[in-house]
Amino acid sequence: MTPNKMKPMNIAPATGKLAILTPGMGAVATTLYAGVEAVKRGLAKPIGSYTQMGRLRLGKRSEKRSKMVKDLVPLASLDQIVFGGWDIFPENAYEAAKHAQVLDKDLVEALREPLSKITPMAAVFDREFVKRIDGPNVKRGKNKMELADQLRQDIRNFMKQNGCERAVIVWCASTEVYTPPTEVHKTLKTFEEGLRNNDPAISPSQIYTYAALMERIPYTNGSPNVSVEMPCLQELAMELGTPICGSDFKTGQTFMKTVIAPGFRNRLLGVSGWYSTNILGNRDGEVLDDPGSFKSKEVSKSGVLGDILSKETYPELYGDLHHVVRINYYPPRGDNKEGWDNIDIFGWLGYPMQIKVNFLCRDSILAAPVALDLALFMDLAARAKMRGIQEWLSFYLKAPVAKQGLPVEHDLSVQLLKLENTLRFFTNEELINHLGLVHYGIDEGEEC
Ligand SMILES: NC(=O)c1ccc[n+]([C@@H]2O[C@H](COP(=O)([O-])OP(=O)(O)OC[C@H]3O[C@@H](n4cnc5c(N)ncnc54)[C@H](O)[C@@H]3O)[C@@H](O)[C@H]2O)c1
Repeated sequence: MTPNKMKPMNIAPATGKLAILTPGMGAVATTLYAGVEAVKRGLAKPIGSYTQMGRLRLGKRSEKRSKMVKDLVPLASLDQIVFGGWDIFPENAYEAAKHAQVLDKDLVEALREPLSKITPMAAVFDREFVKRIDGPNVKRGKNKMELADQLRQDIRNFMKQNGCERAVIVWCASTEVYTPPTEVHKTLKTFEEGLRNNDPAISPSQIYTYAALMERIPYTNGSPNVSVEMPCLQELAMELGTPICGSDFKTGQTFMKTVIAPGFRNRLLGVSGWYSTNILGNRDGEVLDDPGSFKSKEVSKSGVLGDILSKETYPELYGDLHHVVRINYYPPRGDNKEGWDNIDIFGWLGYPMQIKVNFLCRDSILAAPVALDLALFMDLAARAKMRGIQEWLSFYLKAPVAKQGLPVEHDLSVQLLKLENTLRFFTNEELINHLGLVHYGIDEGEEC
């Protein structure tokens, strides 16, 4: 056990209202809003949310001490949340939730009143970046800087009109075409010049990120868009003392990968192939049907195995691993995605084996609690004066961002340990390393 000898964190209390603003008011966002409203009314339980249902062990095992996460760290409560968002479609959240067809009609009707009040602000949108959809509720401006200024004004207006003390932004809008960093993304100076000059390489999601950071609002990227990865935006987050994190909610198939793959590696089992395919019929699936947007998803989904099953560390086990990821748009399934994985592994003396995983999941049901936890933890991070990339939240993300030059951790269990120890650190509880040397008769060792 490592005693937490660091200075206790001075975390500002979670007083007043918290705005959770989502660019995108589609399936994930409306399932998040409706879920929180349903839980507040006692209509359902917040299953899948660590902030709402999780318990954290504290102290030595023999102490048998644990606390609910929400009682340990000062999180905003669900009653303090006010939702808002931007979308290219003008429908309010009640209409958008009906369109998304994730939740039962009865539940959506029961929540008609709070959901109808959430009307989308006009979006910053560019069809060059999302090709399969178009809508009328879009901002106009003479350049991208002006659009960022309009978003900043939206944030201020929303907070004022709703009496919010703080805000966080969680990107829940469509996946943009894959755009790796260019010269314009190198520094804050080049990026701001690019905004003024309408540089075509600057995407709408980067404009939202910039606007949020300029308002000192924590920003989370729930999609595979390249935004918080950009050095210029990381620089801005550090400069203005604001937390950022991303990218891409870790929900269905990739969530399973980061549970299963570490098991193979830990047991030194080889993997020669991992074929993953999905059918999905919601608007997200429609957008991902475009090769440019799919490329973004492919990149964020593919990184996981390369890092967990490292061919550099174990060339005999993973040197010839074939990893394929496919997503097919198939309307009859709606939000109820089906994922198949065929995994070719080999064991002792090289004998081959196969594993098949068939996950019939509900995409937005898995994503909503992840979005909620990220929003509440990012607000906590801001009150704890954490700035820049919040790697301790990698637990929730398919393509977590780490500080430049550092390897990314994808193993879900390791990510959870980091999250848990960060929460212990916040509250000056002992950090737990599960070593327990004293149990082997080592005098100077500690119990764990
Ligand atoms: N559902 C999941 O399990 C899951 C998991 C990981 C990541 N994601 C990502 O989360 C995002 C949302 O997924 P979803 O299922 O809710 O999709 P969705 O298509 O239902 O909703 C996205 C919404 O964003 C809007 N939009 C597009 N561009 C916009 C812009 N520039 N500004 C404002 N609004 C914009 C669209 O009109 C749409 O209403 C996607 O990028 C998806 O890849 C989802």
